[in-house]
Amino acid sequence: MRARSSRQRFVAYLERFRRDRQRAVTEGIHITSHGTERPTARTRGTLELLHAFWAMARLHRGSMTAALCGLAVSTILGLLPPAATKFTIDNVFGRQPLSAAVRGLFPATWTKLDTPGGLLAALAIGLLGVSLISVLFGIFSRWQATRTAKRMHVELKRRVFDHAARLSLDRVQQMRSGGTVSMLREDGQSAGDLIFSLIYNPSRALIQLLGSMVALAVTDWRLLLGSIVLVPAVWYSHRTWIGRLRPMYRDIRAQRDRIDAHATEVFGGMRVVRGFARTGGEQARYTTGNHLMARQELRTWWWARGVEIAWALLVPAASAALLWYGGTQVLNGSITAGDLVLFLTYLVMLLAPIEALAQSATGLQTNLAGLDRVLDLLGEQRELPDRPGARRIDPARVRGQLEVRGVSFHYPQTEARVLNDINFTAAPGSIVALVGPSGSGKTTCCNLVARFFDPDQGTITLDGIDLRDCTLESFRRILGIVEQDVFLFDGTVAENIGYASRNARPEQIESAARAANAHTFISALPEGYATLIGERGVRLSGGQRQRLAIARALLADPRILILDEATSNLDTESEILIQESLNTLMRGRTTFVIAHRLSTVRHADLIVVLEQGRIVETGTHDELMIRSGRYQEMVTLQTAPPSAPRAPVEVAGN
Ligand SMILES: Nc1ncnc2c1ncn2[C@@H]1O[C@H](COP(=O)(O)OP(=O)(O)O)[C@@H](O)[C@H]1O
Ligand SMILES: [Mg+2]
Repeated sequence: MRARSSRQRFVAYLERFRRDRQRAVTEGIHITSHGTERPTARTRGTLELLHAFWAMARLHRGSMTAALCGLAVSTILGLLPPAATKFTIDNVFGRQPLSAAVRGLFPATWTKLDTPGGLLAALAIGLLGVSLISVLFGIFSRWQATRTAKRMHVELKRRVFDHAARLSLDRVQQMRSGGTVSMLREDGQSAGDLIFSLIYNPSRALIQLLGSMVALAVTDWRLLLGSIVLVPAVWYSHRTWIGRLRPMYRDIRAQRDRIDAHATEVFGGMRVVRGFARTGGEQARYTTGNHLMARQELRTWWWARGVEIAWALLVPAASAALLWYGGTQVLNGSITAGDLVLFLTYLVMLLAPIEALAQSATGLQTNLAGLDRVLDLLGEQRELPDRPGARRIDPARVRGQLEVRGVSFHYPQTEARVLNDINFTAAPGSIVALVGPSGSGKTTCCNLVARFFDPDQGTITLDGIDLRDCTLESFRRILGIVEQDVFLFDGTVAENIGYASRNARPEQIESAARAANAHTFISALPEGYATLIGERGVRLSGGQRQRLAIARALLADPRILILDEATSNLDTESEILIQESLNTLMRGRTTFVIAHRLSTVRHADLIVVLEQGRIVETGTHDELMIRSGRYQEMVTLQTAPPSAPRAPVEVAGN
């Protein structure tokens, strides 16, 4: 299949965008940024978002108030300097005496103020002082706001991380790691930036707006009326342009998530990518994704510029009108030249915040979109929430009898049943082997035992208690899993072994490694237990990684152990080593083993043979061999010559 060009994708995207908008209006369905649908009634309006933000910002109200007070002082002081210009023109150059009201503000003994030179000096000093204080307050308030924003970034990212890490597994897989990372980074960030785009910048604009309005009103009330005309213009531009921007920003973000997720995946699977010479293809896919995003961004750019263009035209028009009106007044002699300069300065000071408001409104939309996505995620249900009254499991009291009763299950995203009426009991400390062709539901069975999912029907009980009546956290603590694909974190060997038990002492780690037959090769590493292993342990062989995973499970000392094809990828020699360490590991624990090589499961206390999600046989190796059923067939198949002439010996005699 040929990949579509970014242009075709963009056209498809535009159609989808229009359709979603239409659906939102006609059917009341809203597509969230995570691709799920929900009724429009639950779509967050701006007010709801503001409310949510306010609730989040609750802890920071003190510092926000300090920031806003500082901001008010600094902005109001910032309005004074133009007045100095007016006095210079009228009272210094024009030689008019100061008006009684202004002169009355200062002691009559300051006679210097009545000479032009003295007044000029006083104005200069006053200007300097006022500016200085204004700057100090300005910096103080900015600092407060910045600090608050940073705190909110950290807090929000923590919450998103915490929640995303507790979503159900299929949901996490659906989001893909890159997407989650980009969400953590960008959306948490931009929601925290609301401190600026929602509170700080608009407040500054508003204070300056009101301040210059008052200044205009004091000098000439007709100008105030003129300026009030501008207010509906702000409102109107907001409704038409900006209201449309938010969904576009959300789409850009969703696209960015996809791109990030893809890149993460490619670099994670670089060996496969190179092995199949797909570097070029992946690069093309990456580029097409970026092209599409660029097109989306450019489209949004035009919508955003619409607002700015409107204002860029409005400001000169308003200035020209004032120049004409004020100039006429000066010619009439009804106002002074100083007054006109003052008007013009204040008009700019009046329009600047309106422009800033309009501009920051677009930034505000981006940030609100970020908050919206954060709220979408935080609103998703966590993985199997604990039932009320769920009890904690005490590891010391667990006997380890696991009973699977009438369990049926299908995966959340699919229709087909994967497990059908599964029944078996694992006695305390026994070994249960799950065998069957691939895709028969062995891993799924273990997923249910590990409570990554809950069964649709039937129950799984531990020592007679339904797993759903235990807290998830305490259950997972008594669980250990070793899988075929061993995940090692970026860190030292010791850290990886001690992953489940952070307080483990070095001697404990070492003895676990010894029991897992890993000590010898670890000691041979350049820095022994302190050797760093790269992401996913690329510098260790499969068998070595496997043994680290076993050591990790040993140290965690679980009551219930799941070994899912833990030895499938190994050569015979490492398999013997690992089998030994596995035997150590299984001792005294209820263990579920999935193994491809049936020779490894013949000592199991119970063998459950699965086929297409159903149990076809259960019993011990000997019982099943006598029965000449499916199991015996599989054993014969695996041990048949000519491919493995030595193999029959392994099974014979049991
Ligand atoms: N996360 C999943 N979502 C949907 N279907 C799945 C998922 N994992 C496995 N399956 C399906 O469930 C069936 C059983 O899979 P699995 O338990 O992994 O088989 P086994 O471990 O026996 O090879 C397969 O048909 C597989 O396609
Ligand atoms: Mg499997």
